[in-house]
Amino acid sequence: MKASDSLEVRGKVIRNRITMAPTVKFDYAGPDGKATEKHIEHYRERAEHGCGLICVEATAVSPDGRFWTNHMGLWDDDQIEGHSLIAKACHDNGAVVIVQINHTGITSNPDCGPAIGPSSVPTRDPNVMSKEMNTFEIHKMQENFVNAAVRAKKAGYDGVQLHGCHSYLINQFISKKTNLRTDEYGGSVENRARFGAEIIKAVRKECGEDFIISIRTAGIEPDVATAIEIAEEYVKAGVDMLQVSTGIEWDDPTHKEEGKPYNKFAKLGVRFHDHFKGRIPVSCVNSLYEPSVIRYLLENDLVDLVDLGRPILADPAIVEAVLEYKPFVKCFDCPNCQYGPFMPHKCPAAIKRGVKFE
Ligand SMILES: Cc1cc2nc3c(=O)[nH]c(=O)nc-3n(C[C@H](O)[C@H](O)[C@H](O)COP(=O)(O)O)c2cc1C
Repeated sequence: MKASDSLEVRGKVIRNRITMAPTVKFDYAGPDGKATEKHIEHYRERAEHGCGLICVEATAVSPDGRFWTNHMGLWDDDQIEGHSLIAKACHDNGAVVIVQINHTGITSNPDCGPAIGPSSVPTRDPNVMSKEMNTFEIHKMQENFVNAAVRAKKAGYDGVQLHGCHSYLINQFISKKTNLRTDEYGGSVENRARFGAEIIKAVRKECGEDFIISIRTAGIEPDVATAIEIAEEYVKAGVDMLQVSTGIEWDDPTHKEEGKPYNKFAKLGVRFHDHFKGRIPVSCVNSLYEPSVIRYLLENDLVDLVDLGRPILADPAIVEAVLEYKPFVKCFDCPNCQYGPFMPHKCPAAIKRGVKFE
């Protein structure tokens, strides 16, 4: 397969195999969770450079489910309009676009609401324990995800991506470290995957057959083999794409680097693809800065799509570099864009290509 090959999912044609991974812009939204002009331009620029599939950043399904007060949301109808402008900007420039929906669970920001989760375990503040959700609260939370997906559909998105990794709520249900339950939402693989699987089924019912449902799932939880079994539950529930990233646990001795041009995080996607080949598209992510490595993964049929986070933040022209061997500015692999509202966000690659920061 070539990087330029298209892929059809639920009747939507993704024009090539390059995905923009969800990457929160911590300083773009306000506490009202509405998309801003900055978001629209940010995603438009990535679509203009030819990205096939854009996964819009983690967007909260309820105001208490945020990592930081300034995340976008889809918990209120008033938030639909801003998202519709993001979706339009992507569509006008040929990209398929889905939005990642999330609840942070036990890692929620205390300024946004109480930490809740499958079990009572230490939160961001190790002295504070999370509140264990009862069955009623679990079902209400699943409804929040479904309602957010319905709003995403109204906004014109082609689908949603459930945030099932990086230690947020869906991931907290699948990890035995954070899920100590003994009811139907804890214990066996099937039970731990039930929270996410039921959301997938309900989103399909409410949003229809032409709506893409992806899940970004943990590649090790607690080992790769179990993480694949969990993903099998999502596939049974009807998910359309598996985008593989990291989880809460990290100690699978069967998962080694083997002198490949990609790292062991990207290898998680390769291992999932080995297992799910031909059944469901699988993508990988992490430190894929070099167009030649992206092409290697696709041309050797190691994954179906390649997700780019920092490399496409650094320079959206990486897509043209992969597809057409054009010049681009490579991500510096610095921490400036990363994970926190207090980071400077002054990407040196963006500065090099002339972006002015306030
Ligand atoms: C600034 C920033 C924001 C991120 N926000 C999200 C997010 O909203 N959802 C998510 O699943 N991962 C998020 N991530 C993780 C990335 O999607 C990606 O998995 C990670 O950066 C590794 O891939 P990369 O080397 O291509 O950046 C974020 C990463 C960065 C650097």
